[in-house]
Amino acid sequence: MSESSIFPAPPSFAAQAAVDSARLRQMKDDALHHPERFWLEQAGRIAWASFPTIASSSSFEGDIAIRWFADGRLNASVTCLDRHLAERGDQVALVWQGQDEGQVERLTYRALHERVCRMANVLRDLGVGRGDRVAIHLPMVVEGVVAMLACARIGAVHVVLFGGFSAEGLADRLVNSGAVVVLTADEGRRGGKRIPLKPTMDEALERATGHDVRHVLVLAVTGAETPMRAGRDLALAPLLAAAAADCAPAIMEAEAPLFVLYTSGSTGKPKGMVHTTGGYMVWASYTHALVFDHKPGDIFWCTADISWITGHTYVVYGPLANGGTVVLFEGLPSHPAPGRWWEVIDTHKVTTFYTAPTAIRALMREGDDVVARYALSSLRLLGSVGEPISADAWLWFHDVVGRGRCPVVDTWWQTETGGILIAPVPAAVPQKPGSATLPLPGVECVLLDDKGRIVTGEGEGCLCIARSWPGQARTIWGDHARFRQTYFSFHEGYYFSGDGARRDADGYYWITGRIDDVINVSGHRIGTAEVEDVVATDHRFAECAAVGVPHDLKGQGLVVFVVPRGGADPALAQEAALVISRGIGRYAAPEQVYVVPDLPKTRSGKIVRRLLRKIASNELDALGDLSTLADATIVERLIVDVAVVE
Ligand code: WT7
Repeated sequence: MSESSIFPAPPSFAAQAAVDSARLRQMKDDALHHPERFWLEQAGRIAWASFPTIASSSSFEGDIAIRWFADGRLNASVTCLDRHLAERGDQVALVWQGQDEGQVERLTYRALHERVCRMANVLRDLGVGRGDRVAIHLPMVVEGVVAMLACARIGAVHVVLFGGFSAEGLADRLVNSGAVVVLTADEGRRGGKRIPLKPTMDEALERATGHDVRHVLVLAVTGAETPMRAGRDLALAPLLAAAAADCAPAIMEAEAPLFVLYTSGSTGKPKGMVHTTGGYMVWASYTHALVFDHKPGDIFWCTADISWITGHTYVVYGPLANGGTVVLFEGLPSHPAPGRWWEVIDTHKVTTFYTAPTAIRALMREGDDVVARYALSSLRLLGSVGEPISADAWLWFHDVVGRGRCPVVDTWWQTETGGILIAPVPAAVPQKPGSATLPLPGVECVLLDDKGRIVTGEGEGCLCIARSWPGQARTIWGDHARFRQTYFSFHEGYYFSGDGARRDADGYYWITGRIDDVINVSGHRIGTAEVEDVVATDHRFAECAAVGVPHDLKGQGLVVFVVPRGGADPALAQEAALVISRGIGRYAAPEQVYVVPDLPKTRSGKIVRRLLRKIASNELDALGDLSTLADATIVERLIVDVAVVE
């Protein structure tokens, strides 16, 4: 695939798209030269109780104060629900598709509004109020979306927790966020399997020493028997049935936190990124409209779990703010048979399909004939997010799924950015397979070399952003110093993303991946330090190093080297893997664990991960300079040990 192949939007798409290249140029100009005016205009996309008079009062210097639309007041659920009632109260807002074909629920805006109000009243009646944190630990069911919007309605801060986190992982997040109420379910469903949720939450609450939640609300999803603790645990259904169907929204300051969402970094425990109400909502609406060319009648399907930022912004807030119809799918891509996702697209006439490269690669493997069995004629736009998409996967998505009719938008962003920052505006920016293309209007990307110098024109460097945008996270929950240190200490005045990127002669960005110690396994961020810290808590291991290696399906796979304290018992490999999935979650289970006698270190005692990565991925001819190692003979030992295991 030559880098120069360019895909302009197909004429049939361009003819009906909202933003063409002239309009995009004008937006970029406005955003650059008249940012206050431009952003106040964008603020008009959402509903305000009092419209802001100032856009940005943000600074990337000193203490890092990020504030948008600061004198505006609003409620996020009003933008997503109430303001649509008059015009599209009977339009379907949410289509829930369960694992089995027959499990479908369609909720109009009016019905969703009512469900949200009831849930909001349940929470309010339990004493949950403005600023209180509510943990949501639910599968991909309607109540997950309802619970998020219900928190927003009463000004509570939601903290959505992934169903795949271990009890320990949940406990850390419950304690850190100080959640007062937890919403969970008896069980989740995953293919033929049942995933216990309430029992894991019970264990998490036991581990959350010194932290008491007032109540645990339990949704019956499968009807499994669940032990309930008297006084603390409450069945949700009867409370919802008894609650009033209308609930006055709490009017919040623009900068009131809307949610906290945890993500992994290169050091320490996961950090709770804080997103606030006004700026985030504007960003969700702006990017969803612009990148997905949203128009009335669109059926938008983003396959992400609601517990990730992609689910927050493009399953819930963006499409609902824009009055769209979203599909919420609880099943797996290929269960009960390959082609299940394509069937969902045909059944629900999905127009816009947004998924991750890891899924695209897996579907590609099933063969083109699986896709060919479906019409997929409703599709008009495809999107990708989460990791770099290789040109071959991009082309397959474009040709085989999109049948050459649909632009493919590769969207680069992060939990921290709240929404998309780099992506083609589909009818205005010709796509190049594998490139996220150009920053959106108002986003000022800069590449810095390792000395902090600006790379101009073509070149490669650390991807940084030079000025604030409304959707940016404001802080790390409870730790502003860490926020400043993590994102703003690389170079004064710049937000540092942790990603590397190359810019080509056309100014297009090609994301090369993380340059810090974060690995991306199937779109899930895992910090190597997080893995190493968990292993370190087990006395059987003296040392540990985690690295990411290329993986055909997952993008990257986790490989762990452990040095046992006692003798080198090979059974310890499996033990280490267990320690990791118990400490973090199943999604972090390593691809491979090597039990080794020692790790390669510099004379100052720093583990040389670069070497471990090469050894683990069998790139032995490019080990580079070993002269800085304290003991170079260890490298030979490791190569032998790794070869023996394989
Ligand atoms: C990291 C952020 C963005 C929501 C889902 C993941 C990688 C994300 C792309 C892309 C190349 C990408 C980056 C980024 N990433 N999108 N289109 N091309 N890399 O959110 O868990 O916060 O992870 O995902 O490395 O830093 P996240």
